[in-house]
Amino acid sequence: MRHFLDIRDFSTETLQVMLDDAAATKAALKAGAETAKPLAGKSVAMIFEKPSTRTRVSFEVGITQLGGTPLMLSAQDLQIGRGESIEDTARVLSRYVDAITIRCFAHETLLTLAAHASVPVVNALTERSHPCQIMADLQTMIERHGALDGQIVTWIGDGNNVAASWIEAAARFGFQLRLACPEGYAPSAELLAWARAEGADLVLYDSAIEAATGSQTLVTDVWISMGDEEGSRREDFRPFQVNRELLEMAAGDAIVLHCLPAWRGMEITAEVIDGPQSAVFDEAENRLHAQKAILSWCMAGN
Ligand code: CP
Ligand code: NVA
Repeated sequence: MRHFLDIRDFSTETLQVMLDDAAATKAALKAGAETAKPLAGKSVAMIFEKPSTRTRVSFEVGITQLGGTPLMLSAQDLQIGRGESIEDTARVLSRYVDAITIRCFAHETLLTLAAHASVPVVNALTERSHPCQIMADLQTMIERHGALDGQIVTWIGDGNNVAASWIEAAARFGFQLRLACPEGYAPSAELLAWARAEGADLVLYDSAIEAATGSQTLVTDVWISMGDEEGSRREDFRPFQVNRELLEMAAGDAIVLHCLPAWRGMEITAEVIDGPQSAVFDEAENRLHAQKAILSWCMAGN
């Protein structure tokens, strides 16, 4: 079964196949050319336990462009909300649909769904990872910088689910990933150790300014993710804002990425996110193209 659960599950070659397909299909779509319809006559269930703008719309549109029918299923409207098991939900949905995407709180929910589904399952964000986002981010980096290998990418802020998928990507591609996170918000030691053992070039910094110096891509995300307690986060993250001062330390042609939604004035200033070095809307667009490639790859194996 070809699931798409995490970046770490794939070889560099397979990820590159998906990135190449995403770029080719994007170019064909822009040129108005016919593209493949691997989901023709097929349906895809999209389960959401959390809100979404980009993931929901890009999957819904992407599935339609691939010839399929998307089914938007809010978890609270499913029997899951009344206690039906994930296992039974996986078995039943597999009798109707040809693939399932899921955005859920616990990563375990994703793994249980995948273990009991007989159709491909795609991770549309969990508390632990967001691999579809990172595929779009890698596509954006390739578009802007021409390559991934040899690049320096700097993650500023929370060592959260998006950071975790970046770390997994660093284990598969030849870029250096610098991480500047406030004390207490670093990614798990276990994940860092795994990535280093897989060959990732990871460098941890206490200072955002030092981490950004000479970097070609600055990446950030919200300080308070869905499901997080606010606690003292606003205070703790204040020195880790992506602002003009920080961007000036980066390479002259540096780009800024943010998965969105963004809180202007908190993790990133309006001046930077709306400025000439921001690639965030290309990045958001690339969710569509990257996810079409992911779904096409999943369907090709079934
Ligand atoms: N970046 C992202 O996943 O956005 P949504 O929460 O809007 O889907
Ligand atoms: N880290 C954020 C990403 C949102 C797309 C969250 O989990 O809320």
